[in-house]
Amino acid sequence: MVLLLAIVLLAMNSEARVTIDENGLKTMVSLSPKVTQHPGSVSNKYYYGIEFPKGHIAIKSFNAEVVDEAGNPVPLQETYLHHWIAVRYYQRIGTEGTNSNANFGFHKSDLIVAGNAGVCNHGLSQHFGLGSETRKTSTDIPDPYGIEVGNPLEVPFGYEEKWLLNIHAIDTQGTVDPMGCTECRCNLYNVTIDESVRHLNPNYVGGLYCCHDGEQCQVKNELESVERNLYLRYTVKWVDWSDSIVPVKIFIFDVTDTWQNTGSHDCIIEFDVEQSTANDYTSTRKTNFQFPTTGDIVYGVAHQHSGGIGSALYREDGRTICSSMPIYGNGNDAGDEAGYIVGMTTCYPKPGSMKMTKGEMITLESNYSTEKSHTGVMGLFYLLVAESSLESNYPVQAHEELKVPIFYWGVAVFGLAIGAAVLVAYRRRKRTEDGYQPIIAA
Ligand SMILES: *[C@@H]1O[C@H](CO)[C@@H](O)[C@H](O)[C@H]1NC(C)=O
Ligand SMILES: *[C@@H]1O[C@H](CO)[C@@H](O)[C@H](O)[C@H]1NC(C)=O
Repeated sequence: MVLLLAIVLLAMNSEARVTIDENGLKTMVSLSPKVTQHPGSVSNKYYYGIEFPKGHIAIKSFNAEVVDEAGNPVPLQETYLHHWIAVRYYQRIGTEGTNSNANFGFHKSDLIVAGNAGVCNHGLSQHFGLGSETRKTSTDIPDPYGIEVGNPLEVPFGYEEKWLLNIHAIDTQGTVDPMGCTECRCNLYNVTIDESVRHLNPNYVGGLYCCHDGEQCQVKNELESVERNLYLRYTVKWVDWSDSIVPVKIFIFDVTDTWQNTGSHDCIIEFDVEQSTANDYTSTRKTNFQFPTTGDIVYGVAHQHSGGIGSALYREDGRTICSSMPIYGNGNDAGDEAGYIVGMTTCYPKPGSMKMTKGEMITLESNYSTEKSHTGVMGLFYLLVAESSLESNYPVQAHEELKVPIFYWGVAVFGLAIGAAVLVAYRRRKRTEDGYQPIIAA
């Protein structure tokens, strides 16, 4: 058993704790700004300049969970974590943004999103992110790989690298229909217009446009409204950058991507599932696109919402690249909430064993149960790809270790889309009005 020397390195400020083990793996645990909730409330805010490890580093894991003021994990039945995302950006030195909603207050040229490697044209620019599945999704990046950030040579002159967190949390306590609240059903929120006072299509019955920041889901009459403060407690693991680390690129694929029809990666991000008894209560959604690069698959995981029953990426010849299945909870405790997806299974191919070539036609499949109808669901797939190839006999000890941490707060290249999508839509509209740019649409 490895002896973890939890040496307190330095307090980056009063909230963050940094420890280092004997292999040089550093861990920082930090709290987001306070998220205030009451029964039925929605909080969907953007927090700029969050605490984040400094310097030229390789991130090995990023995860998070919602906790209360005492630091206790908050179960999903109380506060549903719709998503959190962490986005890297460059901010012009000497400029300030406002911390709040999608209305950032950054002028166009002062903020540049340092997004991931693709593939969607708009939105989904985050490095990390997950939703309800955060607690049981293993996301550590095995040696010798890592996500390179903080390279001073990549930061534009006059800018500094920073990170933002978007947290979308819905308090479903005392609500008339908790699952409906988590699926952002418009009737429960009494929403017919979205944030920018644009009328929603009457066919739009649920999704992000109906659960904006500050919206209220319908609660039972007798309920006494008590406020409470929550935090997203996030954990970043990293090592200092060195030449022995093989960098990986982050790709996010979306089953709603229109590429096969339009030749353009327009990602809709959300979709609905109709109730039906057909096909054994299974709705299968698929999309095809060309693999964006040449390299080795290092990690894969899908993102689905409640009702999801599995997702996979297939090669051109039909072989499976990665299949990722939801783990549903069975009880009431945080991490095991009945009816919620509390984890997703992940893929860690033996390093160097899953080689992809740019241009290979691949298929993304996302299955949902049609026993009930669902609104605002998602079918994303995260892949980490190493473009510099390893010998396939690279001796990897980390691969075995990775089976342990099903509970380990891992990286998470997941979740997220949604905030980004909304944000982008909002900014695009906004842009024409005031000359600001959609910052998430790197
Ligand atoms: C729903 O919205 C309508 C129109 O804004 C308003 O008249 C009505 O009182 C609202 N109902 C509830 C329950 O908030
Ligand atoms: C999705 O559903 C189809 C049809 O039932 C099935 O053939 C396929 O294996 C499923 N895929 C996954 C990843 O579960």
